[in-house]
Amino acid sequence: MRLAVLASGTGSILDAMVDAGLPVNLMVTDRPCLAVQRAAARGIRATIVGRGSFGDDFDRDAYTRRLVEVLVAADIGLVAMAGFGTVLAQPAYDTFAGRILNTHPALLPAFPGWHAVEDALAHGVRVTGCTVHMATLEVDSGPILAQEAVPVLPDDDVESLHERIKTVERRLYPETIRAVMDNAAGLIGGTA
Ligand code: GRF
Repeated sequence: MRLAVLASGTGSILDAMVDAGLPVNLMVTDRPCLAVQRAAARGIRATIVGRGSFGDDFDRDAYTRRLVEVLVAADIGLVAMAGFGTVLAQPAYDTFAGRILNTHPALLPAFPGWHAVEDALAHGVRVTGCTVHMATLEVDSGPILAQEAVPVLPDDDVESLHERIKTVERRLYPETIRAVMDNAAGLIGGTA
């Protein structure tokens, strides 16, 4: 099963997937970012599907259809979002139903959204964590596949807490993706 990673940040989770031996076939981003260089350094094809040509009002459906075309053209079977900065619209879930995964830096359903680490700090929680889940049209609310708690320390700022969470994500996300791929292979091969 061919795997694509969607990322918009530093790509450290993409790196961890490669280190874990996952066969990442394609990296797609929505903007110039460090993840592009990381992909290149690991010999992974990187494609930028920029948001710029989708209008001032941002035509999310058209953007998503373009992204889906890129994924389908690369014969992708499983999509792993790792800090992807664009919310995908229905066409992604029509084509890849149950085959889009996400990692989120909080214990969902707590702190959904782009500012999960800031929000956890602002709430003064003592424990947060990360969640690997199946992505659905509603952001950060699909079925949970794995979670792990991470302590919030008294001196934490967003950067230190996010890094502690990402240390866990770099292990938990590749493990979970591997399990999903093994399960899918078993189903296809009829041995599950
Ligand atoms: C991760 O914490 C992920 O959960 C979040 O964005 C971060 C991506 O990290 N949505 P990196 O860019 O791979 O370092």
